[in-house]
Amino acid sequence: MKIHIIGGGNLGVSVALGIAKFSKNNQVTVTRRNTASILHLENLGITVSSDNTHQIEEADLIILTIKPYQVDTVLGEILPKISNKTIASAVSGLSVEHLQNKIGDSNSAIRIMPNIAAQFGASATCIAFREKDKENAQNVVALFQELGTAPIIDEKLMDAATVLAASGTAFALRYIRASMQAGIEIGFDWQTALAISAQTVKGAAEMLLEEKGHPEQLIDRVTTPQGCTIAGLNEMEMHGFSSSLIRGIKTSLKQIKG
Ligand SMILES: NC(=O)c1ccc[n+]([C@@H]2O[C@H](COP(=O)([O-])OP(=O)(O)OC[C@H]3O[C@@H](n4cnc5c(N)ncnc54)[C@H](OP(=O)(O)O)[C@@H]3O)[C@@H](O)[C@H]2O)c1
Repeated sequence: MKIHIIGGGNLGVSVALGIAKFSKNNQVTVTRRNTASILHLENLGITVSSDNTHQIEEADLIILTIKPYQVDTVLGEILPKISNKTIASAVSGLSVEHLQNKIGDSNSAIRIMPNIAAQFGASATCIAFREKDKENAQNVVALFQELGTAPIIDEKLMDAATVLAASGTAFALRYIRASMQAGIEIGFDWQTALAISAQTVKGAAEMLLEEKGHPEQLIDRVTTPQGCTIAGLNEMEMHGFSSSLIRGIKTSLKQIKG
């Protein structure tokens, strides 16, 4: 596929890098107004342009990774040049219905919610679309499956997906930071503590994804009766470990919904 990403910022560049590394049969163009900071992408075979309409007629898929207030300007530039295109939008808060109204019936509106781990082939990208666009959405689903996992969800869960998958990256990083800080207190330099904490989280996640079990089943394998792990876990829970995370996620969702 020829993939045209409009908005070469944090997310757009991550997706472009992910495609270049993990979905090599596709050709990528990335656009933004000021291209100086992303010209290095050209070394990886990615086309960089400040013109949103650069060869857009040939694109099989257009991905929007711009801020909500930039959407009308961008669509004003590209719509006169395209028809029968699939437009996948990562723009927070822009519904499929709203996007479809803006792009007209000749194009298909797909809503995606990736995260910046797309760059490492490890994004959790939730995808929503209307039944009429099921066929066109298959390419989008297949692409994001190559960049991690890509569940198709009911669009009414898209705000929740934003919190769990996009904000969730920050939540997971904060867990790793806390674990690393504790690691320093119990004797490691910060680099070693970070390496151990990050790899331990990666290992735990890989076991879960591989075995498709419930976390408690794996926890049970690590917690020896009267051992140090269950003592630490219970102490953390007494200080609100799980409940503070659940409250944080629900607060983020409330904030999104306004
Ligand atoms: N970051 C995440 O983890 C994440 C995850 C899921 C969804 N999202 C959503 O994805 C969107 C982008 O987020 P982000 O964090 O990547 O923001 P960002 O880093 O600010 O990227 C937005 C990019 O759009 C470019 N841009 C602005 N106006 C443009 C125009 N008229 N034509 C072409 N490019 C234009 C900007 O570059 P110039 O100013 O040089 O044009 C900028 O590089 C947002 O709607 C966000 O909610 C982000």
